[in-house]
Order: sequence, then structure tokens, then C-alpha cells
Amino acid sequence: MVDKTIMCPNCKNNLTIQGQPGEKIYITCPKCDTKGKFTFPGKTSYETTDDSYALKIEGLTKTFNGFKAVDNISFSVKKGEIFGFLGPNGAGKTTTIKSILGLLRVDSGNIKINGYDIKKNEIEAKRSIGYLPERVAFYDNLTPIQTLNFFCELQGADKSIIRGLLNDVGLSDALDRKVGGFSKGMLQLLGIAQTMIGKTPVYILDEPMGGLDPRWVKVVRDRIINLNEQGATIMFSSHILSEVQTLCDKVVIINKGKIIAKDTVENLNKHLKIRPRLEITIDGLNGKIPEIIKKIDGIESIDIKNDVLFITCDSVARINIISEIKDKGFEVKDIKTIEPSLEEAFMKLIFKDDEVK
Ligand SMILES: Nc1ncnc2c1ncn2[C@@H]1O[C@H](COP(=O)(O)OP(=O)(O)O)[C@@H](O)[C@H]1O
Ligand SMILES: [Mg+2]
Repeated sequence: MVDKTIMCPNCKNNLTIQGQPGEKIYITCPKCDTKGKFTFPGKTSYETTDDSYALKIEGLTKTFNGFKAVDNISFSVKKGEIFGFLGPNGAGKTTTIKSILGLLRVDSGNIKINGYDIKKNEIEAKRSIGYLPERVAFYDNLTPIQTLNFFCELQGADKSIIRGLLNDVGLSDALDRKVGGFSKGMLQLLGIAQTMIGKTPVYILDEPMGGLDPRWVKVVRDRIINLNEQGATIMFSSHILSEVQTLCDKVVIINKGKIIAKDTVENLNKHLKIRPRLEITIDGLNGKIPEIIKKIDGIESIDIKNDVLFITCDSVARINIISEIKDKGFEVKDIKTIEPSLEEAFMKLIFKDDEVK
């Protein structure tokens, strides 16, 4: 530990802080509330490369009675990223998350949160994190305001933010109701508000959209985007793939405790060669594919339902296919291009992974 006295650039107040050489800490001036960060001098080269990571997981393994729920996984999340952690039920997402947070005793692995090693700097590491568990639990007889009051007191946080937080998650109509009468979705939203109390630099959310109806999924999405705009890094697990696809910079896909893909959504689609699909409506086809269309170059597969043709092709061929159909005299009523989805990448990868075992 190194002691350091620094001066607030705003009110010139002197304050003494403690940290390890190379550690970066976030400070709020107790006098004027100005926020800033400070890096202790004396970085090692290892910590220099680590500095840009909000999470760094190396060789994490967790077994339950000999069963490997998480098997030697490694990944890192850069500061400022929105990171999707995907996998089917039982893949090991919650176990990984609980291991990162130090809630489970792991068999092996190195974990750094916001540059802090969870073993060496447990308190600083945990202080850097806001966590939404898979299943939230609150006292039934408290209102949402009383609930957040309680957590603000536990964390020594400013209570004036409570109404704003509840409003942000769409619970402002339920301020006087007892939490015991809340639906599962409302409890989840209250959990998200609670997670946001600490204004931490890193958030780990375990299935934040699980079981929510589309309106509330949007609320959660907006909160994630908002936190990220304010500079926070967010890792969230999900199997609502369409949501992950539009939100995340990067995804890791896990199946049976092992990582089966680690990439950007765009690269995953490219790598797996998942094709866009065309849906072309032509009046009067009545479930029959004209021979002349079947022969057009670049069509990889073609199917029909009533008047709609479903064509798989690569991106380059699609313009040619559309114009050839028109040239051959068909009157095209509607054209839709269905872009490849992460859902397909996900299913394809899991299918491949299960096949080799
Ligand atoms: N406390 C536990 N004891 C024994 N097995 C567990 C425990 N927690 C999780 N598992 C098992 O580990 C595997 C991964 O579970 P989990 O991490 O909850 O998956 P996910 O969150 O991806 O659905 C599952 O097979 C599950 O049954
Ligand atoms: Mg889970």
C-alpha cells in the first residue's frame, strides 16, 4: 500500500488516498463532490497492458462435486465496452459470473476487475462492480423507496438519487406499493435500480432481460446504453439474442462450460458464412416456384409459401437476383432482406460443438 496526498483541482482541498503502485482509483472530493481518477505511480509493464481492461479472466475453472460447470475459460472486456455473455441454459453463465464476483470458491483462475486482482485487492475489486443477480430478492414488506433507502444506507450512498433511479426503470407509479406484491418483472427492474446505486465503473448483469415483456426489455436496454454513455463497462448474460445483437460490442458464447466463440457480432456472422435471406412477394405464384427463377445465378436455396419466395444467397448476388427476376417480367410486390442474426450464429455454433462430442 502506498499513501499519497493529492489536491482537488476544483476546491484545492487536500486528501490522502491509499493504493498499490500502478493502481487506478476513482475519487470523489468530500468537500466539493468533484469526481476524478488517480493512478498511483510505479506501474509494472503487466499492469500497463491490463489498464484498458474492465475485466480480465484467465483460466477460470469451477467444479461442483467433480462436475466441471466452467472449464478453463479466459476472456477480457475492455473498458467502455458492452459485452454479451451468451449461452443456453446450464452453459455456465451464472457460475462464471458468481466466480468473477468471488461468490463461489473457484478451482483455479486469475480474475481482475477494473485492474484489481480479486484475491489481492478484494475490496477495491468488489467496489468497482455493480451486480444484478439472476434472481433478485427483497424484503416483501418494504416499498421500493424503503428498499433502496436500505441499500443506500448499506453502501453509504446519497439517498437523493432514489426517486430518479426508480423513475429511470419505470417504477414511478409503484412507489407506495409493497415489494411483496410486485410481479417478477417489477422486481427485476427494482434490482436494476438497486444495482445502479453505487455508480460503479463496471456492471455485471445476470440475465437482466430474462422474463421481461418487450416494454420492460426496452427499459433495461435504455439503462444499459445510458450507463455505457456515462463511461461504464457492462457485461451481461442473456439468451435473448436479438437484444444482445443490437447492444453489444463483443460477445462470448459459452456451451457446457467452455467458450465456443469470442468475437464481434459482425465477425461471427462472417466467420460462420451465414447468408442474408431475401423474401420476395410476387402476385399469383400460389406456392409454385417458376423454373426460370430457379435457374438464376447466385441462388443457393429457394423455397416458397403462397406468393412469397424465400431465397438464400450471398450479399453480392442479391442485387443481381432481384433485377433478373424483374427483367424476366415478374411483378415484384414486395422485397425484404433478412440480415443474418446472431441467433443463427449461436445455434450453428452450439450444433457444431455438440456434434464433435
Ligand atoms: N451449486 C451448484 N451445485 C451443483 N451444480 C451446480 C450448481 N450451480 C450450478 N450447477 C450446475 O452447473 C451448470 C452451469 O449452471 P449455471 O452456471 O447456472 O448455467 P447458466 O447460468 O448458463 O444457465 C449446470 O449444469 C448446473 O446444474
Ligand atoms: Mg444462469
